[in-house]
Amino acid sequence: MRLNSPQINLIIKACMKASRSVIRDFGEIENLQVSSKGPGDFVTSADKRTEKILIEELQKAHPEYGIITEETGIINKSNTKNRWIIDPIDGTFNFMNGIPQFAISIGYEEDNEIKCGVIFNPISNEMFCAEKGNGAYLNNTRIRVSKQKIISDAIVVTGGPKGASKIKDKIFSEYINVSKSVANVRKFGSAALDIAYVACGRFDGYWQRELSYWDIAAGIILVKEAGGFVDFFEEEKNLPLKKNILVTNSLIHEELRGLINK
Ligand code: IPD
Ligand code: CA
Ligand code: CA
Repeated sequence: MRLNSPQINLIIKACMKASRSVIRDFGEIENLQVSSKGPGDFVTSADKRTEKILIEELQKAHPEYGIITEETGIINKSNTKNRWIIDPIDGTFNFMNGIPQFAISIGYEEDNEIKCGVIFNPISNEMFCAEKGNGAYLNNTRIRVSKQKIISDAIVVTGGPKGASKIKDKIFSEYINVSKSVANVRKFGSAALDIAYVACGRFDGYWQRELSYWDIAAGIILVKEAGGFVDFFEEEKNLPLKKNILVTNSLIHEELRGLINK
């Protein structure tokens, strides 16, 4: 693997360390403490424990870096030049229900651009990594987006709406529009893995509204480095940490975007 920045090495090391506790917690989900953050939105003791390990590991090397995390919030707010963007467990609902479709997701941002990132499913032992200019990898193998050009043959993935969403009808009508024009739509419950699967060609595209930056930060660089296209739609309505994202193999991009905007 040709990825060699100090930051990607730090992220990989932190993920490996945190994954041991994630695997242990996944094996004992009946003992997890679960609390509610809102309708259909939960946080478990595993999310908090994982995040703590990741923060500690990354801070050992760079105590001065900014950090944006799902569970703790913002650390070192004044450092906006170098930031880690952390989702300790993306796919908590799957995790809590014993479904092995979740991942640790960490992106590294410099001067407002994601430079590298890792999405790691510790159960399948699939580690997706990418670094600007040096490609995207699944474990040690270079990955590329799919070559699918025909929208009616495409397999795409989406997520949401969240329990608290105020635009559920809009999201469902988009789902119907897209479903009528593609071969298949999937909904797997981990935005980070959905994007990683576009990067390695398992899916031809992915879209979702109302995401948070930590859901997608690592995925952004992964798809770009795998030859795909990343687009934020209706961007003017997005807060800095809230995103509507469309990622594709680039070949079906315009058509999929058209179906979403219909
Ligand atoms: C969630 C997952 C899910 C997506 C939700 C996210 P979490 O993240 O990525 O696929 O549909 O919008 O909030 O809460 O499991 O980290
Ligand atoms: Ca998430
Ligand atoms: Ca999470």
